[in-house]
Amino acid sequence: MRDVRVSLVGFGVVGHGVVDVLSRKKKLLRDMGLNLKLVSVTDHTGTVLAEDGVDAEKILGERTLANVASSGMKGKEAISAIDSDLMIEVTPTNIVHGQPGLGHMEAALSGGKHVVTSNKGPLVVSYGKLKKLAEDNGVMLKFEATVGGTMPLISLVERTLVGNTINGIRGIFNGTCNYILTRMAEEGIPYTHALSEAQDLGIAEADPSYDVEGVDTAGKVVILANSLFGMDVKYSDVDVTGITGVTPEALALAKKRGYAIKLIGDVPALTVRPMLVPLGSPIAVSGTLNSAAIYTDLSGTITVTGLGAGSIETASAILTDIISIYRTKLIDAIF
Ligand SMILES: NC(=O)c1ccc[n+]([C@@H]2O[C@H](COP(=O)([O-])OP(=O)(O)OC[C@H]3O[C@@H](n4cnc5c(N)ncnc54)[C@H](OP(=O)(O)O)[C@@H]3O)[C@@H](O)[C@H]2O)c1
Repeated sequence: MRDVRVSLVGFGVVGHGVVDVLSRKKKLLRDMGLNLKLVSVTDHTGTVLAEDGVDAEKILGERTLANVASSGMKGKEAISAIDSDLMIEVTPTNIVHGQPGLGHMEAALSGGKHVVTSNKGPLVVSYGKLKKLAEDNGVMLKFEATVGGTMPLISLVERTLVGNTINGIRGIFNGTCNYILTRMAEEGIPYTHALSEAQDLGIAEADPSYDVEGVDTAGKVVILANSLFGMDVKYSDVDVTGITGVTPEALALAKKRGYAIKLIGDVPALTVRPMLVPLGSPIAVSGTLNSAAIYTDLSGTITVTGLGAGSIETASAILTDIISIYRTKLIDAIF
């Protein structure tokens, strides 16, 4: 049995999902030979420390750690001080400077800890440097949950399709935009109506600009370009148009001609824009679903669809990344 000490930084929607999933999957992990212990959870208020593993039931009912924190340690200080093998980083995304996640990841990687994250910001701002830091310290940086939530895209390309040349990836990477466009097409309602419906349902933020202006999708395009296509690009290299200019009339006309209008991110073209997609095409998914078509030289086109967000769904991608780190280590040991 291999002991793995895990620290979690960020205790919001995804952080709660991670605590829940790690607790639920304890037996499965043990059956795989992993004794995974969540030894700390940190948010902006402090840290819960537990040598024998955090009591999930005790903290899952709390919105923040303010009432249950056993230490005032926060941020980089906590990451460096806590003895762990792996850090899960799930603080808010900032794609301009990458903080606070960038500092957290640098501290963990330089301290010899693997990093698993759903936080796009640090990867958009500094993928090359973080990757090098991981390599220099003999640890891994895994980020499946940053693109398409639970949709297995990065691991599919890196592992299952290894041996193929990937000519391109094109897809829907933002569930909020897809929901709005779907509702506009279904009901013939204007953008503003569909947006307020999405806000009422909690699918769109009060300030939706990050999603509807295409910023979130462009961040994902940068991550895919740098990690899967060996490119070295920044957010400003992506040509971005959001969905705010899409009208119900354009959607109706497209539909009449057999098309849907979807916000499509394209790598390596480095574009994000509303595009016509044939109705019935595997990537023309509805509602909050995400999708990606992977164009390969040997396997033709492979399409994946799945939930792009959600507490447990995103935690599922994080769990997969954790397991894959220790499986890779096992294979390394054999060779
Ligand atoms: N939600 C999803 O379905 C989803 C899906 C895929 C990827 N993601 C990404 O995953 C990350 C987490 O998303 P989320 O929805 O869980 O966000 P969230 O609900 O806003 O949670 C973020 C957490 O990080 C905490 N935090 C903020 N600054 C911190 C700091 N300096 N040190 C420690 N903790 C800090 C926040 O505390 P306060 O709230 O008290 O400030 C909160 O607990 C984001 O980067 C997001 O883009 C989310």
